[in-house]
Amino acid sequence: ALIERGEYDHFMLKEIHEQPESLARSILPYIDQAAQTLNLDDVAHKMFTKADRAVAIACGTAYYAAHTAKYWFEQKARLAFETDIASEFRYREPVLPQTGPAMFVSQSGETADTLAALRYCRQNGTQAVAVVNVPESSIAREAEAIVPTHAGPEIGVASTKAFTAQLSVLAVLALSAAKVRGHLLPGDEANAVKTLLALPRKITEALKSQDQIREIAQTLTQSKDVLFLGRGRYYPLAMEGALKLKEVSYIHAEGYAAGELKHGPIALIEKDLPVVVVAPKDELFEKTISNVEEIRARGARVILISDEAGIQMAGNRADHIILMPEGDDISLPILAAIPLQLLAYHVAVAKGTDVDQPRNLAKSVTVE
Ligand code: G6P
Repeated sequence: ALIERGEYDHFMLKEIHEQPESLARSILPYIDQAAQTLNLDDVAHKMFTKADRAVAIACGTAYYAAHTAKYWFEQKARLAFETDIASEFRYREPVLPQTGPAMFVSQSGETADTLAALRYCRQNGTQAVAVVNVPESSIAREAEAIVPTHAGPEIGVASTKAFTAQLSVLAVLALSAAKVRGHLLPGDEANAVKTLLALPRKITEALKSQDQIREIAQTLTQSKDVLFLGRGRYYPLAMEGALKLKEVSYIHAEGYAAGELKHGPIALIEKDLPVVVVAPKDELFEKTISNVEEIRARGARVILISDEAGIQMAGNRADHIILMPEGDDISLPILAAIPLQLLAYHVAVAKGTDVDQPRNLAKSVTVE
């Protein structure tokens, strides 16, 4: 069927706004709503009960989804979880898990390096789990188990709704692994289900910051560099935010772990350098805020993406604030994607770039 932009100026914007529905479509198949339980026990039993560790391999935005999942798998399921970009993994003769799976995250299911990494794993006897958006793709066909995302066709070259769909499915997988490995109490499972089911509504809420983000975007159009910082589960989000901005606005951007700032990137900070800080309030919040103080003291302009509690604690230490809905350690990293996508989009529109077809990029990279 022909997919149209409808009322939206670009597919990217349409796909950003579709996320309440694409997320619901991606989550619902994996939840038993009546019983308030997760519905992926079969795959989880087969793949994770006896796993010594797991690896997750992907490229681009899908890699940042996998990297976020590492925090969930380790913290919730106590499963050692390594991530790597496919082009590195496939050539270094990696040591594979003995009893655990290799997971492959891909929107298209056709990325050449990711597919080659999958074949390497299978040749070496490691089970492959595919988290793919195109169920008839090569990666889906060649994996032992597929746990599809149902984001629907994504047209914009810069991935948006496929990313949040990947995150949500990986969250269900991590929670299911926690369950079969005995790290989830019955009450925890019902809570997790509630969190997941609330996500579509919270995304609608997060989308309401659009006008304000558009204004902040106007202040970035002349910037040569933008730094994105995050800690813990928000570190991969900082990297994804930077990737989105470079892809569509052509502004140089770097995503960094906030704690690593003083080991290099702080040398870049000069007056008015925009620094986007992704930091809902969590157990590491104060550490991130002390990094914010260090960069502000050097003249950086801080754009803080946080929830109510975080914004209160930050006080006047940010120059711009983007308010996120309330959530927990599963939902907040997913919700943080929304303001990052909107920011990249509006900077690109203000600069007049070709948002849906950025120069030099392809939607699906089927050659090396
Ligand atoms: C290309 C796209 C990216 C995407 C990456 C991985 O570079 O432009 O948006 O994240 O490939 O694609 P996949 O289909 O494997 O998720």
